[in-house]
Amino acid sequence: MGKEIKRILYGGDYNPNQWPREVWKEDMRIFRDARINSATINVFSWAKIQPSEEKYDFSELDEIVKMLSEEDYDIVLATSTGAVPAWMARKYPEVERTDFDGKHHKFGQRHNACPNSEIFRKYSAALAAKLAERYASNPHVKCWHVSNEYGGTCYCENCEKAFRVWLRKKYGTLDAVNQAWNTEFWGHTFYDWEEIVAPNALGEGLWDGRSAFAGMSIDYKRFNSDSMLQNYMDERDAIRKYDKEAVITTNLMGTYKELDYFKWAKEMDIVSWDNYPAYNTPWSLTAMRHDLMRGLKDAPFLLMEQTPSQQNWQPYNSLKRPGQMRAQSYQTIAHGADSIQFFQLRRSVGACEKFHGAVISHAGTEATRVFREVQELGKELERLSDLIPGSRNESQVGIVFDWDNYWGLEYTSGPSVDLRYEEQIHSYYEYFYEKNISVDMIPVDGDFSRYKMIVAPVLYMVKEGMKEALEAFVREGGVLVTTYMSGIVDQSDNVYLGGYPGPLRELAGLWVEEIDALAPEQKNGVKLVDGTNCSCNLVCERMHLEGAEALGVYEEDFYAGEPAAARNCFGKGRVYYIGTQLEKNGKAHILNMAAKDAAVESIVADSAGLEITCRKQGEKTFCFVMNFKEEERKLPAVFAGKTDLLKGNVLTETMTLKKYDVFLVEI
Ligand code: GLA
Ligand code: ZN
Repeated sequence: MGKEIKRILYGGDYNPNQWPREVWKEDMRIFRDARINSATINVFSWAKIQPSEEKYDFSELDEIVKMLSEEDYDIVLATSTGAVPAWMARKYPEVERTDFDGKHHKFGQRHNACPNSEIFRKYSAALAAKLAERYASNPHVKCWHVSNEYGGTCYCENCEKAFRVWLRKKYGTLDAVNQAWNTEFWGHTFYDWEEIVAPNALGEGLWDGRSAFAGMSIDYKRFNSDSMLQNYMDERDAIRKYDKEAVITTNLMGTYKELDYFKWAKEMDIVSWDNYPAYNTPWSLTAMRHDLMRGLKDAPFLLMEQTPSQQNWQPYNSLKRPGQMRAQSYQTIAHGADSIQFFQLRRSVGACEKFHGAVISHAGTEATRVFREVQELGKELERLSDLIPGSRNESQVGIVFDWDNYWGLEYTSGPSVDLRYEEQIHSYYEYFYEKNISVDMIPVDGDFSRYKMIVAPVLYMVKEGMKEALEAFVREGGVLVTTYMSGIVDQSDNVYLGGYPGPLRELAGLWVEEIDALAPEQKNGVKLVDGTNCSCNLVCERMHLEGAEALGVYEEDFYAGEPAAARNCFGKGRVYYIGTQLEKNGKAHILNMAAKDAAVESIVADSAGLEITCRKQGEKTFCFVMNFKEEERKLPAVFAGKTDLLKGNVLTETMTLKKYDVFLVEI
């Protein structure tokens, strides 16, 4: 392949089109100094490169591509379809979206096209084709970046019509639709396909984005995700006709709720994503999002965007502290990224992102703290380009993440509004993160046999085949951990009758009779079998054991003394069922038992408080040792005598890591 990416991409979104020519030259000089080797261009230039329906004008883009090629950049060429031009919105109002409240939008903002507008589909694919035809032969164009951060939902009439077509294809008959959505409830039976409308606030929408008919709303989410995926595929296929070599991607957004990224990733050559933690985002959550992005294709990914320092769109946009950007970048690489790219390379002069951090600030020079940090990192990454790209992360633990479950759990009214999917998954991920046990985030139809331990928290929706897959995994000796709110509904959000957790009942060796919800000010307690006490909250399930042994009992309320967590033997393996949200220590107690059963261990035994994440390149293992805590931490003894590949010095037994210190060692 002539277009293989052979180095760690280091660069980011670059918008020279917003600047006069004399600035471009200065940019090149400054970027060279920072070892920048890649640029993502043409992200929001549709209006410039297609100024009217009949006219295309690539003259400026030609110049930009030429300049970057001469500088030997790896170019990430975007298709510009993330924001429609004003002329198009005026001439064809259908390209704009109708929102949840039913308002049809006028021209404005971005990420705003109706995915089912035939006009949008035609012109976006045509633009992608024109770009590919023109630039595919340039060897510097290594990656295509389709649109930008697909997202949101459209509820317009065109989408409504397309939804009916999607439903016909999925269900065949209206009877099947009525049954799947349980429309007998409230007498919502449909007798004609045309009676089906989009479930927004004018339809089945309830408070807080919930739905009167979750089955319908989940189908609408699936449909909306598929519609945008089709937009991506329209452009991808148009590009592929001309460019057989460059990778094609679009920038995803971690645990973003609206799109089923496992499905999307199947159509992408490589996953790329934008990482924007807030000042108070736990580092474990960022790590989990990276692992999810790696898990989508079970392969290294690209970091498409992060800010060198500030953001503009969060309520409080703090500066990144000295060393923080570097540490964040190494965490990203440690979890599987083969690039570090910034939004953006030069800070814009006007509009809503003028306060967004950039490599070159409004001061316009390299004499800034942020620039010096970017430059220092650039020099380090240059040296890693032969070692890291393509290396793999290996895990013995898989945590299940599933968009249908995300939607299902959060559409449901009851038992508690505080059941948030990402938060729930993270609260289990955190245990492994803190123990430095590597985790893969896996889909519900993943290959479970690769793991010793599968954790499937709030596995609310159990789709076809999952019961069998989980049973086979445990029967062969695997350890499964699952929790409250699992095994409740099928893929249409209809309850499995006969007692929760429905299809998982035999596996868990218990059945759940009732689910109590605790308000934020309420809690209960659990006495674990070894006598430890811990508190619990959110939900308390009342369960009956059918072969499982209790691991703890509730301490209060009318269900005091009843089991709160249990363990069951099934085939050669074991299943842990946690019936309530245990406080961190209680959760760790149970997960310790499960991890011991599964014989999974920390990467480094005496590593508490540090993050240690490894990537393997053939026989070589590279360990990133990072401190994200306020307090200084001792370097684990195993690393003494090794060379830090970032700074080149030899590590000694007495060394410590201050906050944001990073060492990279080969073991
Ligand atoms: C997103 C977009 C960029 C920019 C950044 C700002 O990730 O893709 O165009 O708006 O946010 O943080
Ligand atoms: Zn629409």
